[in-house]
Amino acid sequence: MRDVLVTENVTGPEMEVLKKNFDVAFEPELWKSPDRLLAMVPDFRAMIVRNQTRVNANVIAAGRSLKVIGRAGAGLDNVDTEAATNAGIVVAYAPEQNSISVAELALGMMLSLARKIAAADRDTRAGGWKRREFTGIELYGKTLGIVGLGRIGYRTAVRARAFGMDIIAHDEYANPDAIIVSELRARMVELDELLAQADFISCHLPLTSATRGLFDYGKFSRMKPAAFFINTSRGEVVDEEALVRALRDKKIAGAALDVRLKEPPDKGALSGMDNVILTPHIAAFTGEGQERVVASVCRDVAGVLSGKGAKNHVNFPKPKRG
Ligand code: MLT
Repeated sequence: MRDVLVTENVTGPEMEVLKKNFDVAFEPELWKSPDRLLAMVPDFRAMIVRNQTRVNANVIAAGRSLKVIGRAGAGLDNVDTEAATNAGIVVAYAPEQNSISVAELALGMMLSLARKIAAADRDTRAGGWKRREFTGIELYGKTLGIVGLGRIGYRTAVRARAFGMDIIAHDEYANPDAIIVSELRARMVELDELLAQADFISCHLPLTSATRGLFDYGKFSRMKPAAFFINTSRGEVVDEEALVRALRDKKIAGAALDVRLKEPPDKGALSGMDNVILTPHIAAFTGEGQERVVASVCRDVAGVLSGKGAKNHVNFPKPKRG
């Protein structure tokens, strides 16, 4: 029996510590070969993945000796956590270790949309000097609508406050009396109100059956024509065709997407739009964020394998009553 199967490119100082103390098979391309993964997983007590490995019920059933699945990131949409919990496997993840990185990218996207930084850069490199054409707007005094006031949404809002923005937020699960709501001087609103009032809408939702395709043409049509939409969460939350149509119909002023329906995406209509910013799912990718994520997950995997347990895990027993 071997110890840890690493199926994606998860590196860092704590991974080196893990390799010293355990028998680690480092297979950064394995996520691309689901059949090979199924064949290998029975020999391991743990696996570590990022977001590209599909850890579905078949993988979990095949992993008869698995004690822990380490997800080097916050999103758990690629791991069947219910099947893992039912099989008695710990799912350890990094719920907040990259949240500053993601929040900072969301702010970067907002600044870039407001000041047309990416478009101005492209034009200036091509020989242009169009100062008037690249007149932007300030974030100051604008309303930021946060959809999903979790760890990342909260941190995005904190930073936006420093720019003098007003915060409104929508979150199906957040307690409107939570201290963070007062601290942000935020107003919790229904989604329709947020869509109608926000100048910038930043999406920080997990991918679930309820959020898949949430941002459709109807939602974009309810936004202000001058609004900007930013998504650093999961691509599937947005109906991309609807977004293209909304941009063409000038229902909104622009969008920034770090995440896509298909990753990597095909070159589509969005790539040709100057009021759209596209990045390759890099929100969590900073040196600092990744070092924290990898450290947390490697320590938790080591903890479970040595009988000490994990600090960040998602398997909680359901209450017997209520
Ligand atoms: C996350 O869920 O932590 C980020 O989107 C990065 C990733 O998917 O690995």
